[in-house]
Amino acid sequence: MTSSTAVFDVSELGTSSYAVACEVRAGLMRPTKSLSPWLFYDEIGSELFEQITRVPEYYLTRTERELFEAHSPSILQEMGLPAAEEQTCQDSAQPAQLRRRVTIAELGAGTGTKTGILLRTLAAVQRNVVYQPIDVSASALEHATKLQVEIPGVVVRPRVANYAAEEYRIDRTAPCRVLALYIGSSIGNFAPEEARSVLKRLSAQLLPGDNLLLGTDRAPGRHKPVDRLRAAYDDAQGITARFNRNVLTRLNRELGANFALENFEHVVIWNPGESRIEMHLKSTTSQTVKLPANSAGPAMHIQFRAGETIHTENSYKFTEASVAELLSSAGFEVARTFLDTKELFALTLAKVI
Ligand code: AVJ
Repeated sequence: MTSSTAVFDVSELGTSSYAVACEVRAGLMRPTKSLSPWLFYDEIGSELFEQITRVPEYYLTRTERELFEAHSPSILQEMGLPAAEEQTCQDSAQPAQLRRRVTIAELGAGTGTKTGILLRTLAAVQRNVVYQPIDVSASALEHATKLQVEIPGVVVRPRVANYAAEEYRIDRTAPCRVLALYIGSSIGNFAPEEARSVLKRLSAQLLPGDNLLLGTDRAPGRHKPVDRLRAAYDDAQGITARFNRNVLTRLNRELGANFALENFEHVVIWNPGESRIEMHLKSTTSQTVKLPANSAGPAMHIQFRAGETIHTENSYKFTEASVAELLSSAGFEVARTFLDTKELFALTLAKVI
């Protein structure tokens, strides 16, 4: 296929279908089959993920929300902002950088519930809070934009960008300090090297004294046996299993593949060597799946041995030490760690050095 044909096809199909086709071909041709986790998030997958955040076993979202509820004032105080009741006595002895307005830039906006808690707290101590959600999904940004209506004093400046793969700019035209948010354990989808480069690309556009609030899920420990961690990815209602299998439904619909869903089983593995949860789809039988020709390449016959898996997701789990190491390798230093009483989840406030 000539490159001009490929370019034509991209415009015909829309970039996303082409990206899906490329990703699927590359992932299913490898000797160890895999699919990127971003493929989960079509309309149905995004809705299933919302449902996952509400199943009893999935403690991550709930615990992180509790951390925001309990510690938003402390997070801002740690950054040198006055507590709400002190706001009238202006501390002119503060360094100029600290007196600047805080703007919040968020990588991957989600539905904005947790961020809303922090924005409310900030809007109580600072006039005009600019919130810059950055997300690939326009519909996620629409959600985030509602915060402007819900919280007086907040102005939302959304930006469509894939922060993991492309350039994006945090706006700082007016003198301000940036608090970057990267929450929800989103960083957990990236292998250590990629995680570092995502954070490096962020710190490269921050200034000394700017901050990052990073949300990470914790490795198994005293209050978190491996079984509890595994259960968070294998809930009794089977929502996570549907979320995992939905990627095959998506490939059937968008690429005309013929995956038989009943022949693939949801498998969750704790990999202690890599400190990650892995999700796989296990072929229960020896089978061949057809992928018709498309803009990204010719027709494919994908062979599965009985028991062979498609690796669909990694979710890395951290210790305080591994978070500190990751942050310092990307130009940050830990200022303070906020943990729930059961030490299930961590919010780490870091500072640009
Ligand atoms: C959205 C990447 C944080 O890894 O916990 C939830 C995705 N996968 N259940 C996670 C997910 C299965 C989630 N992240």
